[in-house]
Amino acid sequence: MGTVALEDMQAAEPGEIRMAEAAKVMETAAAPDNEVRAPILTFMSGKGGAGKTISLMTIVSALSARGKKVAILEADEMRPITAWRADGLEKGTWDEEILIYTIEDADDLGVALRKADEAGADFVFIDTKGGGSDLNQTIILNSQLVIVPTALDINEMKALFRTCNYLVDAIEGYEDEVSVQILLNRTPTRDSALAATNKVGLKALVDAEMPVMTSRLPRRQVFSDLPQGGILHKYFEYCRKHPDRRVMAPEVRKAIKDADTLTDEVLSLLEPEAKEAQA
Ligand SMILES: Nc1ncnc2c1ncn2[C@@H]1O[C@H](COP(=O)(O)OP(=O)(O)OP(=O)(O)O)[C@@H](O)[C@H]1O
Ligand SMILES: [Mg+2]
Repeated sequence: MGTVALEDMQAAEPGEIRMAEAAKVMETAAAPDNEVRAPILTFMSGKGGAGKTISLMTIVSALSARGKKVAILEADEMRPITAWRADGLEKGTWDEEILIYTIEDADDLGVALRKADEAGADFVFIDTKGGGSDLNQTIILNSQLVIVPTALDINEMKALFRTCNYLVDAIEGYEDEVSVQILLNRTPTRDSALAATNKVGLKALVDAEMPVMTSRLPRRQVFSDLPQGGILHKYFEYCRKHPDRRVMAPEVRKAIKDADTLTDEVLSLLEPEAKEAQA
């Protein structure tokens, strides 16, 4: 089976997926000139279930723990963030400082961005519905950073290439620069722990100089439980206080560490000058 996956991976031709072109368009981050002071971070993938909502909420958790004011724009009509909040409120594990605006079209986007700005949001996060749409196109062009979560298995890699092509088409020829970063989700943090086929996938991304984030989100039970768990640091306290959940607390602590590492990298990506200074 491993051999089939390898062949499939090699069959995804670079010409077809325009990887080098994608990497070139994707490299720089600059704030869009849209009068919103807070950085706008969008989570996007062509494939459903890649981990957009989980990775968004992981970073939001870390920022909320740091006392930052976060606005989330929910552009997915399934309303996963609204449901997340409801479950969190029930458990007392939600942070009511987090603002949520649901958006269905470009007009809603404008209104929500203005409201978030007026409310003094430090960061705006946008959770999108998988795939392309006029709304997604508008969202991309208003974002400072677009994060594309993916695992390294063959199906997710193929979907990633399609997403990259879509993003290149959306961004190409546009004045403001939009930075795109690939976040490896459900992926071990150490390369030595990667399965052989996943190593091939990672090599394909590295060889094409695709912008892959250094931090990764490993597969954790805590991440799949989190939509019913609220915000990570509050969920940690909840697990400690409830005897039947106590066994999860050390696992939540590990997830908090992942969240902090990922959030630090995201913050450094939002400040390209700071990143250059470090290099
Ligand atoms: N790192 C992870 N560890 C464990 N489970 C995960 C992880 N990432 C995602 N999942 C699980 O995979 C499922 C899909 O994740 P998520 O909802 O974040 O994807 P999505 O890209 O937002 O999907 P959709 O396109 O439906 O909005 C969820 O049920 C989540 O519990
Ligand atoms: Mg989602």
